[in-house]
Amino acid sequence: MFAHDVVVLPAVLKLYPSTVSLDCRFQAFSPLNFPFGLRRGSRNQKSYRLKAGFWESIRSGILKNNTAQVIEPPSTDEEEEELLPEEFVLAERTKPDGTVEQIMFSSGGDVDVYDLQALCDKVGWPRRPLSKLAAALRNSYIVATLHSISIPAGQEGNGQKKLIGMARATSDHAFNATIWDVVVDPSYQGQGLGKALIEKLIRALLQRDIGNISLFADSQVVEFYRNLGFEPDPEGIKGMFWYPKH
Ligand SMILES: CC(C)(COP(=O)(O)OP(=O)(O)OC[C@H]1O[C@@H](n2cnc3c(N)ncnc32)[C@H](O)[C@@H]1OP(=O)(O)O)[C@@H](O)C(=O)NCCC(=O)NCCS
Repeated sequence: MFAHDVVVLPAVLKLYPSTVSLDCRFQAFSPLNFPFGLRRGSRNQKSYRLKAGFWESIRSGILKNNTAQVIEPPSTDEEEEELLPEEFVLAERTKPDGTVEQIMFSSGGDVDVYDLQALCDKVGWPRRPLSKLAAALRNSYIVATLHSISIPAGQEGNGQKKLIGMARATSDHAFNATIWDVVVDPSYQGQGLGKALIEKLIRALLQRDIGNISLFADSQVVEFYRNLGFEPDPEGIKGMFWYPKH
């Protein structure tokens, strides 16, 4: 959800009920719809197992100081989790003119606020004051970005860098995180990048032991998030909003 948007369906990552498996394998890039070759990130295969319920932990666990939610350690060396680097090349392709285009994922928060505004413009989001946008970025727990980097044929080193995707998470740094402002440049949509972005963001949160992950989905993207494991209104519980009356 766009942070200042209208109502929406709350969704939480499906950690409820009892023990479920969140499969964070990188599956987004089917060769059918994604013209890039896989790079690092595809190797990161691990099923996180999460115990106890989100609402259970909210209602009783936290109050009783019972941190019931557990991320089990890998059971074998083979399943050893490879820590997600802060920045890595997610995918790469070579264009007919020899230009190499890389898609760089970063969870380091390196995003230019003007570039972000331009990206938000492309998907038709209403403009927000730049100072507030900058503050929101600064105060987010994780800001995940996708950049396209174009390296002309025969040239090494830094290529032209363009912001093509962003999602950010706010958090209490202990139990909970909420994902906001998920956006992919329209010319890069439908290629698995939005899914990869959210999967990597979830993974970065799980690595920091944050297991209660929620978001607010615009009605047209509920299925997008459901496919990623988010469940609307678990147990019928509704997100509620308060707005100024004037
Ligand atoms: C929503 C958005 C981030 C999705 O990014 P994307 O890169 O196009 O999505 P992907 O290509 O990774 O899609 C992954 C899967 O979700 C599906 N999907 C994508 N958008 C969907 C939608 N709006 N509704 C249902 N399914 C959707 C794809 O078909 C694909 O399915 P598959 O895995 O079975 O092939 C992108 O469309 C966007 O930026 N939209 C505008 C901003 C917006 O609405 N953000 C969300 C605010 S809550």
